[in-house]
Amino acid sequence: MPLASEAGADVVCQVEDLRMSFDRRLIQRDITFDVRRGEIFTIMGGSGCGKSTLLRHMIGLLQPKVGQIRYAGQDYWSATPEQQDAVRRRFGVLFQGSALFSAMTLFENVALPLQLYTVANAVETRALVRYKLGLVGLRGYEEYYPSEISGGMRKRAGLARALALDPEMLFLDEPSAGLDPISARRLDDLILQLRDGTGASFVVISHELASLFAIGDNGIFLDADSKRPIAHGSPRQMLEHSEHPTVRAFLRREAVKDAGTHDTVVQSE
Ligand SMILES: Nc1ncnc2c1ncn2[C@@H]1O[C@H](COP(=O)(O)OP(=O)(O)OP(=O)(O)O)[C@@H](O)[C@H]1O
Ligand SMILES: [Mg+2]
Repeated sequence: MPLASEAGADVVCQVEDLRMSFDRRLIQRDITFDVRRGEIFTIMGGSGCGKSTLLRHMIGLLQPKVGQIRYAGQDYWSATPEQQDAVRRRFGVLFQGSALFSAMTLFENVALPLQLYTVANAVETRALVRYKLGLVGLRGYEEYYPSEISGGMRKRAGLARALALDPEMLFLDEPSAGLDPISARRLDDLILQLRDGTGASFVVISHELASLFAIGDNGIFLDADSKRPIAHGSPRQMLEHSEHPTVRAFLRREAVKDAGTHDTVVQSE
C-alpha cells in the first residue's frame, strides 16, 4: 500500500518504521510520521524517552539500524555524500542547551555557518548577520559574548545561528526550556512569525505545555515505558482525544494511576 503522504507534494520529510538503539539497548521502535512544508511538528515525551536521539537521526548525525528517513522522497542513507550534504545544507539546528561557542561573540557565532558554507564576502556576511540577529530581536548585540547575555537571549542567538543559511527545515531541541513564561511566549511568537514569513518547516522538541499548544500543528508522543509512539497528531488533538494515561498525564498535568493502589501526581503546579 502506498504511503498516504506520497500523494502530497508538500511532505518534506518522512520517517518510516524507525527503530533507535544504542548497542543492544532499544530506545524507541515503530516510529513513522511525515513532516509537511510549513508545519510545526512537535516531538513530545518524558525525559529520556529518546526525543533528542530522534532529532539526531533526522539531521543525519545517527544512522538508523532499522527504518528510513527520507527527504524529498529519497532515503537519506542511500544518497551519495554530495546529496547528503545538499540535504543537510537546508537544515538549521538549535541543539538542547543552545550550544553557542562561548569564546566567540554573537556576530562570530552567527557568521560561522556563512563562512563555512557560503561564498559571502565580509561585507555581505556583516549585513546577513545583522539581519539574522535583528530577526530575533538582538540587533546591537553583535559584539557581546554568550556569557554577557541572558539565557533567553542566548536561545534567540542560537536561533539566529540556525537561521543563518535560510533553512527549509529547522530543528529546535527544547528552545523554551528554562525561560520565564513571557520570554517563552515571545520565542513561540517568533517561531510562528518565522514559519509564516519563510514557509520553513519546524521540528520542535518541547515539554512546555503552553508552547506546545501555541505552536504545534502536528506531532508524535514517544513513550519511555513501551518504547514506541503512543499518540500522533497536534498537541491539542492529543489533549482532546488521547485516552492513553501517559499522554493525558503529560498534557493535562493530571494524576496517573500507578501500578500500585494510589495516584501519583506526575506534574503539579
Ligand atoms: N550516544 C549515546 N550513547 C548511548 N546512549 C545514549 C546516547 N545518547 C542518548 N542515549 C540514551 O538514549 C536515551 C534517550 O536519550 P535522549 O537524549 O534522546 O532523551 P530525551 O528524550 O531527549 O530526554 P530529555 O527530555 O531529558 O532531553 C537515554 O537513555 C540516553 O541515556
Ligand atoms: Mg533531549
